[in-house]
Amino acid sequence: MTAATFQKKIIEWYEENKRQLPWRETSDPYKIWLSEIILQQTRVAQGLPYYQRFVKSFPTVTSLANASQQQVLRLWQGLGYYSRARNLHTCAKVVVSEWQGTFPNNYKGLLMLKGIGRYTAAAIASFAFKEPVAVVDGNVFRVLSRVFGLEEDISTSKGKELFIEKANALISKDRPDLFNQAMMEFGALQCVPKNPKCEECVFSKSCVARKHELQNVLPIKSKKVTVRNRYFYYFVIRYKNKLLMKKREGKDIWQGLYDFYLIETKRNKKVSELLNTDLILKGSTKTNESKIYKHVLSHQKLVVRFVEIELQKIQTLKPSELKWFTDREITALPKPILIANYLVDRSK
Ligand code: ADE
Repeated sequence: MTAATFQKKIIEWYEENKRQLPWRETSDPYKIWLSEIILQQTRVAQGLPYYQRFVKSFPTVTSLANASQQQVLRLWQGLGYYSRARNLHTCAKVVVSEWQGTFPNNYKGLLMLKGIGRYTAAAIASFAFKEPVAVVDGNVFRVLSRVFGLEEDISTSKGKELFIEKANALISKDRPDLFNQAMMEFGALQCVPKNPKCEECVFSKSCVARKHELQNVLPIKSKKVTVRNRYFYYFVIRYKNKLLMKKREGKDIWQGLYDFYLIETKRNKKVSELLNTDLILKGSTKTNESKIYKHVLSHQKLVVRFVEIELQKIQTLKPSELKWFTDREITALPKPILIANYLVDRSK
Protein backbone atom coordinates (compact mmCIF):
# COMPACT_ATOMS: atom_id res chain seq x y z
CA MET A 1 0.00 0.00 0.00
CA THR A 2 1.38 3.42 -0.91
CA ALA A 3 1.72 6.18 1.65
CA ALA A 4 -0.88 8.21 -0.24
CA THR A 5 -3.44 5.39 -0.06
CA PHE A 6 -2.77 4.80 3.61
CA GLN A 7 -3.16 8.51 4.40
CA LYS A 8 -6.38 8.78 2.46
CA LYS A 9 -7.93 5.75 4.11
CA ILE A 10 -7.02 6.62 7.66
CA ILE A 11 -7.94 10.31 7.37
CA GLU A 12 -11.30 9.42 5.81
CA TRP A 13 -11.93 6.94 8.57
CA TYR A 14 -11.02 9.62 11.12
CA GLU A 15 -13.36 12.22 9.65
CA GLU A 16 -16.22 9.75 9.97
CA ASN A 17 -15.43 8.29 13.37
CA LYS A 18 -13.57 10.86 15.43
CA ARG A 19 -14.65 11.93 18.87
CA GLN A 20 -15.08 15.61 19.47
CA LEU A 21 -12.46 16.50 22.05
CA PRO A 22 -11.56 19.98 23.31
CA TRP A 23 -7.85 19.71 22.55
CA ARG A 24 -8.74 19.00 18.93
CA GLU A 25 -10.52 22.35 18.68
CA THR A 26 -7.50 24.47 19.58
CA SER A 27 -4.15 25.33 18.10
CA ASP A 28 -2.84 26.73 21.38
CA PRO A 29 0.41 24.83 22.01
CA TYR A 30 -0.04 25.22 25.77
CA LYS A 31 -3.40 23.44 25.76
CA ILE A 32 -2.18 20.79 23.35
CA TRP A 33 0.85 20.17 25.52
CA LEU A 34 -1.31 19.94 28.64
CA SER A 35 -3.68 17.46 27.01
CA GLU A 36 -0.86 15.28 25.76
CA ILE A 37 0.83 15.08 29.15
CA ILE A 38 -2.48 14.11 30.76
CA LEU A 39 -3.24 11.58 28.01
CA GLN A 40 0.15 9.94 28.41
CA GLN A 41 -1.10 9.05 31.83
CA THR A 42 -4.67 7.98 31.22
CA ARG A 43 -7.44 7.31 28.74
CA VAL A 44 -9.53 10.02 27.17
CA ALA A 45 -12.62 9.43 29.33
CA GLN A 46 -10.70 9.79 32.57
CA GLY A 47 -8.36 12.50 31.28
CA LEU A 48 -11.05 14.84 30.00
CA PRO A 49 -12.25 16.20 33.37
CA TYR A 50 -8.62 16.68 34.46
CA TYR A 51 -7.89 18.61 31.30
CA GLN A 52 -10.93 20.81 31.87
CA ARG A 53 -9.99 21.52 35.48
CA PHE A 54 -6.41 22.37 34.53
CA VAL A 55 -7.45 24.72 31.74
CA LYS A 56 -9.96 26.41 34.04
CA SER A 57 -7.49 26.84 36.91
CA PHE A 58 -4.53 27.67 34.68
CA PRO A 59 -5.67 29.10 31.35
CA THR A 60 -2.13 30.06 30.31
CA VAL A 61 1.33 28.64 30.74
CA THR A 62 2.19 31.67 32.88
CA SER A 63 -0.63 30.97 35.31
CA LEU A 64 0.54 27.36 35.61
CA ALA A 65 4.13 28.49 36.17
CA ASN A 66 2.98 30.84 38.95
CA ALA A 67 1.04 28.14 40.81
CA SER A 68 2.49 26.35 43.82
CA GLN A 69 3.63 22.75 43.41
CA GLN A 70 1.01 21.79 45.97
CA GLN A 71 -1.80 23.25 43.81
CA VAL A 72 -0.55 21.42 40.75
CA LEU A 73 -0.25 18.10 42.58
CA ARG A 74 -3.72 18.52 44.07
CA LEU A 75 -5.25 19.04 40.61
CA TRP A 76 -3.33 16.02 39.32
CA GLN A 77 -4.52 13.90 42.26
CA GLY A 78 -5.82 10.55 41.04
CA LEU A 79 -3.89 10.44 37.78
CA GLY A 80 -0.87 8.78 39.36
CA TYR A 81 2.77 9.03 38.30
CA TYR A 82 3.17 12.33 40.11
CA SER A 83 6.61 13.07 38.66
CA ARG A 84 4.70 13.91 35.46
CA ALA A 85 2.86 16.67 37.33
CA ARG A 86 6.09 17.99 38.83
CA ASN A 87 7.78 17.97 35.41
CA LEU A 88 4.75 19.69 33.89
CA HIS A 89 5.11 22.46 36.43
CA THR A 90 8.89 22.74 35.92
CA CYS A 91 8.46 22.88 32.16
CA ALA A 92 5.87 25.67 32.47
CA LYS A 93 8.34 27.68 34.54
CA VAL A 94 11.06 27.19 31.93
CA VAL A 95 8.73 28.29 29.10
CA VAL A 96 8.03 31.45 31.08
CA SER A 97 11.57 32.21 32.22
CA GLU A 98 13.46 31.24 29.08
CA TRP A 99 10.92 31.57 26.28
CA GLN A 100 8.93 34.60 27.46
CA GLY A 101 5.88 32.41 27.99
CA THR A 102 5.68 31.26 24.37
CA PHE A 103 6.32 27.67 23.36
CA PRO A 104 8.88 27.16 20.56
CA ASN A 105 6.98 26.83 17.27
CA ASN A 106 8.76 23.82 15.82
CA TYR A 107 9.77 20.24 16.65
CA LYS A 108 13.46 20.94 17.20
CA GLY A 109 12.83 23.90 19.46
CA LEU A 110 10.24 21.99 21.49
CA LEU A 111 12.66 19.12 22.01
CA MET A 112 15.06 21.51 23.72
CA LEU A 113 12.62 21.90 26.58
CA LYS A 114 13.40 19.62 29.46
CA GLY A 115 10.46 17.31 29.98
CA ILE A 116 9.34 17.38 26.36
CA GLY A 117 10.37 14.22 24.56
CA ARG A 118 9.93 13.15 20.96
CA TYR A 119 6.33 12.09 21.34
CA THR A 120 5.17 15.32 22.96
CA ALA A 121 7.26 17.52 20.66
CA ALA A 122 5.77 15.77 17.62
CA ALA A 123 2.26 16.14 18.97
CA ILE A 124 2.61 19.88 19.62
CA ALA A 125 4.52 20.59 16.40
CA SER A 126 1.97 18.78 14.24
CA PHE A 127 -1.26 19.80 16.01
CA ALA A 128 -0.35 23.43 16.71
CA PHE A 129 2.04 24.23 13.86
CA LYS A 130 1.19 21.59 11.22
CA GLU A 131 4.77 20.39 11.00
CA PRO A 132 4.92 16.92 9.42
CA VAL A 133 6.48 14.90 12.24
CA ALA A 134 4.83 11.65 13.22
CA VAL A 135 3.64 10.95 16.74
CA VAL A 136 4.40 7.42 17.80
CA ASP A 137 2.64 6.14 20.91
CA GLY A 138 1.24 2.75 21.92
CA ASN A 139 -1.69 3.17 19.53
CA VAL A 140 0.59 3.92 16.61
CA PHE A 141 2.87 0.93 17.33
CA ARG A 142 -0.17 -1.31 17.28
CA VAL A 143 -1.69 0.06 14.08
CA LEU A 144 1.59 0.01 12.12
CA SER A 145 2.70 -3.39 13.35
CA ARG A 146 -0.60 -4.96 12.39
CA VAL A 147 -1.42 -3.22 9.12
CA PHE A 148 2.12 -3.62 7.75
CA GLY A 149 3.10 -6.78 9.62
CA LEU A 150 6.07 -5.17 11.36
CA GLU A 151 7.60 -7.71 13.71
CA GLU A 152 10.33 -5.63 15.30
CA ASP A 153 10.34 -5.62 19.08
CA ILE A 154 8.91 -2.33 20.37
CA SER A 155 10.63 -2.73 23.74
CA THR A 156 14.05 -2.17 22.12
CA SER A 157 15.33 1.19 20.95
CA LYS A 158 16.13 -0.25 17.53
CA GLY A 159 12.57 -1.47 17.17
CA LYS A 160 11.17 1.88 18.25
CA GLU A 161 13.34 3.70 15.71
CA LEU A 162 12.02 1.51 12.96
CA PHE A 163 8.43 2.34 13.80
CA ILE A 164 9.24 6.04 14.01
CA GLU A 165 10.84 5.87 10.56
CA LYS A 166 7.85 4.05 9.14
CA ALA A 167 5.39 6.56 10.64
CA ASN A 168 7.41 9.47 9.24
CA ALA A 169 7.51 7.85 5.82
CA LEU A 170 3.71 7.59 5.87
CA ILE A 171 2.70 10.94 7.31
CA SER A 172 0.69 13.33 5.18
CA LYS A 173 2.67 16.47 4.40
CA ASP A 174 -0.50 18.46 3.76
CA ARG A 175 -2.43 17.46 6.88
CA PRO A 176 0.07 16.08 9.41
CA ASP A 177 -2.25 17.18 12.23
CA LEU A 178 -5.17 15.14 10.90
CA PHE A 179 -2.93 12.20 10.08
CA ASN A 180 -1.49 12.02 13.60
CA GLN A 181 -4.88 12.40 15.28
CA ALA A 182 -6.22 9.75 12.92
CA MET A 183 -3.50 7.25 13.80
CA MET A 184 -4.11 7.62 17.52
CA GLU A 185 -7.88 7.56 17.16
CA PHE A 186 -7.75 4.50 14.93
CA GLY A 187 -5.68 2.70 17.57
CA ALA A 188 -7.99 3.84 20.35
CA LEU A 189 -11.32 2.96 18.69
CA GLN A 190 -10.79 0.46 15.88
CA CYS A 191 -7.46 -1.36 16.05
CA VAL A 192 -7.79 -1.92 19.81
CA PRO A 193 -5.50 -4.28 21.77
CA LYS A 194 -8.08 -7.03 22.37
CA ASN A 195 -10.71 -8.05 19.84
CA PRO A 196 -9.90 -5.42 17.19
CA LYS A 197 -12.81 -4.69 14.86
CA CYS A 198 -11.33 -6.40 11.83
CA GLU A 199 -14.67 -7.27 10.20
CA GLU A 200 -15.45 -3.65 9.46
CA CYS A 201 -12.07 -2.07 8.89
CA VAL A 202 -10.80 0.17 6.10
CA PHE A 203 -7.63 -1.95 5.96
CA SER A 204 -9.34 -5.34 6.08
CA LYS A 205 -8.18 -6.30 2.59
CA SER A 206 -4.56 -5.30 3.00
CA CYS A 207 -3.87 -5.76 6.72
CA VAL A 208 -1.01 -8.25 7.24
CA ALA A 209 -2.04 -9.18 10.79
CA ARG A 210 -5.55 -9.99 9.66
CA LYS A 211 -4.34 -12.02 6.72
CA HIS A 212 -2.08 -14.16 8.90
CA GLU A 213 -4.20 -13.98 12.06
CA LEU A 214 -1.50 -12.19 13.99
CA GLN A 215 -3.72 -9.61 15.72
CA ASN A 216 -2.98 -11.10 19.14
CA VAL A 217 0.75 -11.39 18.47
CA LEU A 218 1.45 -7.90 17.15
CA PRO A 219 2.94 -5.62 18.26
CA ILE A 220 5.80 -7.68 19.68
CA LYS A 221 6.96 -6.48 23.06
CA SER A 222 9.46 -8.84 24.67
CA LYS A 223 10.33 -7.04 27.87
CA LYS A 224 7.62 -7.35 30.43
CA VAL A 225 7.80 -5.21 33.54
CA THR A 226 8.53 -6.95 36.78
CA VAL A 227 6.20 -6.11 39.60
CA ARG A 228 7.30 -5.95 43.21
CA ASN A 229 5.02 -6.39 46.22
CA ARG A 230 5.15 -3.88 49.05
CA TYR A 231 3.26 -3.99 52.33
CA PHE A 232 2.24 -0.64 53.79
CA TYR A 233 0.97 -0.18 57.32
CA TYR A 234 -0.36 3.31 57.74
CA PHE A 235 -0.91 4.50 61.27
CA VAL A 236 -3.59 7.13 61.31
CA ILE A 237 -2.96 8.98 64.54
CA ARG A 238 -5.74 11.23 65.77
CA TYR A 239 -5.92 13.69 68.64
CA LYS A 240 -9.29 15.39 69.03
CA ASN A 241 -10.19 16.55 65.50
CA LYS A 242 -6.73 16.44 63.98
CA LEU A 243 -4.69 13.81 62.18
CA LEU A 244 -0.93 13.46 61.85
CA MET A 245 0.26 13.62 58.27
CA LYS A 246 3.55 14.19 56.49
CA LYS A 247 4.80 15.29 53.13
CA ARG A 248 6.61 12.52 51.26
CA GLU A 249 10.17 13.39 50.34
CA GLY A 250 12.94 11.44 48.66
CA LYS A 251 13.05 9.31 45.58
CA ASP A 252 10.21 6.91 46.26
CA ILE A 253 6.67 7.06 44.84
CA TRP A 254 4.36 10.01 45.61
CA GLN A 255 7.04 12.63 46.15
CA GLY A 256 5.41 15.86 47.33
CA LEU A 257 2.13 14.17 48.33
CA TYR A 258 0.88 13.75 51.90
CA ASP A 259 0.40 10.49 53.77
CA PHE A 260 0.42 9.13 57.32
CA TYR A 261 3.02 7.58 59.60
CA LEU A 262 4.13 4.57 57.61
CA ILE A 263 5.80 1.29 58.41
CA GLU A 264 6.72 -0.74 55.36
CA THR A 265 7.54 -4.44 55.47
CA LYS A 266 8.63 -6.98 52.87
CA ARG A 267 6.04 -9.49 54.02
CA ASN A 268 2.69 -9.54 55.69
CA LYS A 269 3.00 -8.78 59.41
CA LYS A 270 0.73 -8.68 62.39
CA VAL A 271 -0.33 -5.18 63.36
CA SER A 272 0.02 -6.07 67.04
CA GLU A 273 3.66 -6.91 66.45
CA LEU A 274 4.30 -3.54 64.87
CA LEU A 275 2.49 -1.77 67.68
CA ASN A 276 4.66 -3.53 70.24
CA THR A 277 8.02 -3.01 68.60
CA ASP A 278 7.88 0.40 66.91
CA LEU A 279 9.34 3.15 69.09
CA ILE A 280 6.81 5.75 68.11
CA LEU A 281 3.83 3.47 68.49
CA LYS A 282 4.86 1.53 71.55
CA GLY A 283 2.12 1.53 74.16
CA SER A 284 -0.62 2.79 71.86
CA THR A 285 -3.70 0.78 71.13
CA LYS A 286 -5.56 0.70 67.87
CA THR A 287 -9.14 1.88 67.74
CA ASN A 288 -9.77 0.48 64.28
CA GLU A 289 -8.09 -1.41 61.47
CA SER A 290 -9.28 -0.89 57.91
CA LYS A 291 -9.91 -3.48 55.26
CA ILE A 292 -6.94 -4.26 53.03
CA TYR A 293 -6.53 -1.85 50.15
CA LYS A 294 -4.72 -3.19 47.09
CA HIS A 295 -3.17 -0.56 44.91
CA VAL A 296 -1.50 -1.41 41.62
CA LEU A 297 1.18 0.85 40.16
CA SER A 298 3.15 0.26 36.98
CA HIS A 299 6.00 -1.60 38.72
CA GLN A 300 4.65 -2.21 42.20
CA LYS A 301 1.71 -3.79 43.92
CA LEU A 302 0.87 -2.23 47.28
CA VAL A 303 -0.99 -4.08 49.99
CA VAL A 304 -2.12 -1.42 52.41
CA ARG A 305 -3.77 -1.32 55.82
CA PHE A 306 -4.80 1.73 57.80
CA VAL A 307 -4.54 1.35 61.55
CA GLU A 308 -6.34 4.04 63.51
CA ILE A 309 -4.99 5.25 66.82
CA GLU A 310 -6.63 7.76 69.08
CA LEU A 311 -4.37 9.64 71.48
CA GLN A 312 -5.61 10.66 74.90
CA LYS A 313 -2.98 13.33 75.18
CA ILE A 314 -0.59 14.96 72.72
CA GLN A 315 2.38 12.74 72.28
CA THR A 316 5.79 14.28 72.49
CA LEU A 317 7.58 11.44 70.78
CA LYS A 318 6.90 11.92 67.12
CA PRO A 319 9.08 12.24 64.02
CA SER A 320 9.41 15.95 63.23
CA GLU A 321 8.03 15.63 59.70
CA LEU A 322 4.63 14.60 61.05
CA LYS A 323 2.28 17.53 61.52
CA TRP A 324 -1.28 17.97 62.76
CA PHE A 325 -4.02 18.78 60.22
CA THR A 326 -7.76 19.32 60.50
CA ASP A 327 -10.16 17.57 58.09
CA ARG A 328 -10.60 20.78 56.15
CA GLU A 329 -6.85 21.25 55.76
CA ILE A 330 -6.47 17.64 54.69
CA THR A 331 -9.02 18.10 51.90
CA ALA A 332 -6.80 20.75 50.32
CA LEU A 333 -3.60 18.67 50.53
CA PRO A 334 -2.43 16.64 47.53
CA LYS A 335 -2.70 12.97 48.49
CA PRO A 336 -2.23 9.62 46.79
CA ILE A 337 -5.67 8.50 45.60
CA LEU A 338 -5.38 5.51 47.89
CA ILE A 339 -5.27 7.83 50.91
CA ALA A 340 -8.10 9.97 49.54
CA ASN A 341 -10.21 6.82 49.09
CA TYR A 342 -9.48 5.64 52.59
CA LEU A 343 -10.48 9.04 54.02
CA VAL A 344 -13.76 8.90 52.12
CA ASP A 345 -14.47 5.33 53.31
CA ARG A 346 -13.64 6.30 56.89
CA SER A 347 -16.08 9.24 56.87
CA LYS A 348 -18.99 7.04 55.74
N1 ADE B 1 -4.05 10.09 23.25
C1 ADE B 1 -2.92 10.78 23.20
N2 ADE B 1 -3.09 11.91 22.49
C2 ADE B 1 -4.38 11.93 22.10
C3 ADE B 1 -5.16 12.84 21.37
N3 ADE B 1 -4.64 13.96 20.91
N4 ADE B 1 -6.45 12.53 21.16
C4 ADE B 1 -6.96 11.39 21.65
N5 ADE B 1 -6.27 10.51 22.34
C5 ADE B 1 -5.00 10.76 22.57
